[in-house]
Amino acid sequence: MQSTKLAGILGTILKSNFTRLSRPYKLNFSITYWCQSRCQHCSIWTIKPKGELTLDEIKEFARQNPYFKWIELTGGEPFLRSDIVDIARAFRDSCPGLYLLTMPTNSLCNYDMEIKKIEEMAQLGIPNIVITVSLDGYRELEDKIRGVPGNYDKAIHMFNGIRELGKKYSNLLCVFGFTIINANAGQFEKTVKEVMKEIPGMSYSDFHVNIGQVSDNYYANINTPIVAPADQAMKDVEYLLENMRKVREKGVSRMAKTYLEIKYMEGILEFLRTKKSSVPNRDGELSIFLDSYGNVFPSIMTSRKLGNLRQDGNSLSAMVAKAGLGKEREQYFTACESYQSILGALLKM
Ligand SMILES: C[S@@+](CC[C@H](N)C(=O)[O-])C[C@H]1O[C@@H](n2cnc3c(N)ncnc32)[C@H](O)[C@@H]1O
Ligand code: SF4
Repeated sequence: MQSTKLAGILGTILKSNFTRLSRPYKLNFSITYWCQSRCQHCSIWTIKPKGELTLDEIKEFARQNPYFKWIELTGGEPFLRSDIVDIARAFRDSCPGLYLLTMPTNSLCNYDMEIKKIEEMAQLGIPNIVITVSLDGYRELEDKIRGVPGNYDKAIHMFNGIRELGKKYSNLLCVFGFTIINANAGQFEKTVKEVMKEIPGMSYSDFHVNIGQVSDNYYANINTPIVAPADQAMKDVEYLLENMRKVREKGVSRMAKTYLEIKYMEGILEFLRTKKSSVPNRDGELSIFLDSYGNVFPSIMTSRKLGNLRQDGNSLSAMVAKAGLGKEREQYFTACESYQSILGALLKM
């Protein structure tokens, strides 16, 4: 079963190297805009959402779009949705090729509740679940950037708890996600060293970096100057990249993950150097962004809506065909979207 799903996603990735796909294989889905944090770099927490998609609407969407192989459930804080496991189950039931479920978390929900939900998701039979625990600095810096005293300690506790669960569920993996912004640029190495002191047995491949972006749609932070100077951001990325190149992984899937992370970081560096993506941007074709009101966008970075599930029905390809994909896609390089574009250009690298 697992090998069939692996063959399915590999087949799709291979196909994306030769041809344009008729439908996306990755869904980035913000399941709620509720958030209890106070981050400097993201204003989602200021939103008081009303009329978000119900579980029944999500089930119907999943039934009518059964082709996703990779789903990211994000937010807001995704674990604030009490039905997050039912949402994951709905996609598991409707998407027979679902190979990877990824979710970020701010670690601010009740620890026992979140760990219980992650365990329930690990039991759904999805071959790979990766939780990214957001961590944007060492203790004082993380708490300052996220505006929540104690956030660093909660993130460490959550990471440890998920890692412990991972000993029981081989399909469950956890990494730290560091978003480089002006307030923490140049502080990644210090953060890694502090975390490594606290958590024994950490590897550089347990960290992931992402560059801070402004977007009037998803992050709602268009008026907040958070972008790090490119030269400082590059130093942080180069630090992880150099160390990651030295990591010797055991197991094919961890080796593949590290290889892809290296390609992704090389892509970030190229983007920071040239302000252009090193691979053709294929957002809207290989991945698509659905928000919690049912709005569909090519990516988290674009505010040009392709359609809305409630008004236009559940057919994503019909929305894309009608609205088209704009040129604005060339101006960003995001963690949510760039992996698919990289994978779709692997044979040309
Ligand atoms: C928007 S959050 C949603 C999930 C959860 N609330 C969290 O913080 O992990 C998803 C990821 O986006 C990152 N992020 C926040 N603001 C960002 C920005 N302006 N540019 C790029 N990434 C950002 C967060 O650090 C987090 O890793
Ligand atoms: S980054 Fe996550 S935790 Fe911070 S405000 Fe945005 S959604 Fe909330």
